[in-house]
Amino acid sequence: MSKTLENKSILLVISGGIAAYKSLELIRLIRKAGGNVRCILTKGGAQFITPLSVSSLSENETYTDLFSLKDETGMGHIRLSREADLIVVAPASANMIAKLANGIADDLASTALLAANKQILLAPAMNHMMWQNPATRENISRLLNRNFQIVGPVEGEMACGEFGLGRMSEPEEILSAIQKALSPPGRGLGEGEEIDSDFNTFAKRLRYARKSKNLSQEDLAKKLEVTQQAIEKVENGQIIKPKFLYEAAKVLGVSYEWLWEGTATPPHPSPLPKGERELEGLTAIVTSGPTFEPIDPVRFIGNRSSGKQGHAIAQALAESGAAVTLISGPVKENPPAGVKLIEIETAAEMLAAVEKNLPADIFIGAAAVSDWSAAPSAQKIKKQPGKTPALNLRENADILKTVANRKKRPGLVIGFAAETENLLENAKAKLKSKNCDWIIANNVSENLFGGDENQVYLITQSSADKWEKQGKRAIAQKLAAKIGEHFTNVRTIKEAAE
Ligand code: CTP
Repeated sequence: MSKTLENKSILLVISGGIAAYKSLELIRLIRKAGGNVRCILTKGGAQFITPLSVSSLSENETYTDLFSLKDETGMGHIRLSREADLIVVAPASANMIAKLANGIADDLASTALLAANKQILLAPAMNHMMWQNPATRENISRLLNRNFQIVGPVEGEMACGEFGLGRMSEPEEILSAIQKALSPPGRGLGEGEEIDSDFNTFAKRLRYARKSKNLSQEDLAKKLEVTQQAIEKVENGQIIKPKFLYEAAKVLGVSYEWLWEGTATPPHPSPLPKGERELEGLTAIVTSGPTFEPIDPVRFIGNRSSGKQGHAIAQALAESGAAVTLISGPVKENPPAGVKLIEIETAAEMLAAVEKNLPADIFIGAAAVSDWSAAPSAQKIKKQPGKTPALNLRENADILKTVANRKKRPGLVIGFAAETENLLENAKAKLKSKNCDWIIANNVSENLFGGDENQVYLITQSSADKWEKQGKRAIAQKLAAKIGEHFTNVRTIKEAAE
């Protein structure tokens, strides 16, 4: 490893969280790159790793106590932050982020951070719901506005067993953010310099898209009518501006979702201001989740649909400005913001709710509707020796087909097809037999049920587009953008005819 951090001194604040163990590796990497590292271990951090292991790796004393007389006479909290070239908080817990955003100084770490006159780089780590919580979103927005730098978090399995965006970036990734933060300002990507190929941050993706279009930072700045400094800041991951990324995506000919994907949920509900969103003025009905068909008062026929994709679609449509009604079977997903939610259990209830909310401009059948229901017994079916009860199944109405064949059908009817084989053939047949405009064909052979990713094809009357495996939210945003394009085309054709 080259000594990229030679003569550099880093103050590393380790706050509470299971990711603290990765900070030990980060200390090792900083040392290996020639940097000096002093560490502050918060009370929470010390629940996960010990001052002794931190000191052994950093070869420096580890600071833990605000009121330690020795530290205050020797290396006090002011000097700790002043003598560093860069301050890194890894892991940055939700609590530490909240304290920073609000200027709270109640222990050595938060006091040193408040007294700092150096750049601060945060590597957040927390449960994905905590990361998505509006309180954390607001705190992060505030810190970004104050020029804090942020690396991660990334998507993955959490220590609590859940999956989502909230894992701390790997130590190598944090090290490269440190190197970038400490490299002289104004340094763009030089001739012949390699572009990172993993594109795991929006900053890297923006830089890659710009370079592939053969544009200098200056060229892009001109096109976007911003300063070159602004481009540089975004490409260094120092600031996130959704509206800017949205414009940049258009100029660079890449999708906005691609630029965003893998980063935090946008700090604003929509990248576009009200009045400029693609689906403004349109109404949409989305079905999501499973249906439960009762057999008796305690039993039912159900399925494993999580509702994640349907809910993400409802959210993406709402963010694009549509008025969305989400009709959902029983799921664990939180209701998306700004969406009218109708909770049902059976296929019959789902159909009734859909019909009640029609007409609409868009219908998306993302629910896994049970194909059959039983004539439910009023009493709990009792076990009878040697006898197996008959369920007397009857076929449910096909909601998607019913909607697509109505006289006043929505302008765009989209269905799903979950297939394990002959994906395209079966999906195309479904498109015809159900009279849909588009089908999202789901490859479920890899058992993607309940996961956060999906691999789909968008099938229309004339095309089949493969969408690489990606997050369900990214798929939803891509679909919302496609729907936006569709309605723009429809409007243009109408206007031309008038
Ligand atoms: N659908 C519906 N009402 C039903 C059954 C299905 O609205 N009673 C919709 C689903 O929401 C989805 C599509 O139809 O959009 C799926 O069609 P379906 O025929 O159920 O296909 P698969 O679930 O893919 O199953 P199969 O291959 O067994 O037909």
